[in-house]
Amino acid sequence: MRTSSKKKVLVFDSGVGGLSVFQEIHRLLPHMDYLYLFDNEAYPYGELDQDVLITRVNKLVAALVEEHQADIVVIACNTASTIVLPSLRAKLSIPVVGVVPAIKPASLLASQGVGLIATPATVTRQYTHELIRDFAQGKPVELLGSTRLVDMAEEKLRGESISIPELESILLPLRNKVDVAVLGCTHFPLIKEEIHQALGGEVTLVDSGEAIARRVKALLLSDMKEESKEEGSKKIYASAPPWQEDALNTCLARLGFNPVQVYRHPDV
Ligand code: DGL
Repeated sequence: MRTSSKKKVLVFDSGVGGLSVFQEIHRLLPHMDYLYLFDNEAYPYGELDQDVLITRVNKLVAALVEEHQADIVVIACNTASTIVLPSLRAKLSIPVVGVVPAIKPASLLASQGVGLIATPATVTRQYTHELIRDFAQGKPVELLGSTRLVDMAEEKLRGESISIPELESILLPLRNKVDVAVLGCTHFPLIKEEIHQALGGEVTLVDSGEAIARRVKALLLSDMKEESKEEGSKKIYASAPPWQEDALNTCLARLGFNPVQVYRHPDV
């Protein structure tokens, strides 16, 4: 790690979901340099073959870390984190922080039951089932995997409106069964208000964003003399041209990002 007052944080996801994690990190560390990479060419990760996902994430992230000399990587994707962290940590010499479903804090809060809303892949992962076994405190956990919810968050960030009746029908299996739900996909905090409304307004929603931001801050500041007060740079890369690019760039500009650039890896 460099000991200068500014560090470079690489945030990675399949799509715009990792921006929910970026926002939490940026709240705590507003003056860092940020790189955001999304692998939209292979989106949605929730339906991607595991081996393909592991290979792509390793190659893309390692190449960008090398090219930009990043100081820390945040895999802001539950679907990827549940399987890629060991190989990525073995490959890189900088800290790699992952995001996994917040089963433990949700279970501590719940009195009736916990819902886990995630991608179709995350709800089947062994890692997720071990989290439930170890941390659900005996509370019943209802699993709900949906790619449509991920798409809805992508649409919202391109200025489209979310249909509450559609959300209600997707979330129906959780209605009246849980009092706490885990947003186990980083796309979902982007549609948190809508999910809250569709669940009847009385379910507490929990995600991992803030905890991840605290972890990143602790890792970075342990190595820094003092934090710079200058505005950092914010660059965003996609593995393929994004759909509705203009609408997306409008939203990204509000978060301080330059327009999306395409990053082509020679080998993925
Ligand atoms: N944002 C991702 C997650 O946290 C995955 C979305 C997808 O590509 O399926 O799981």
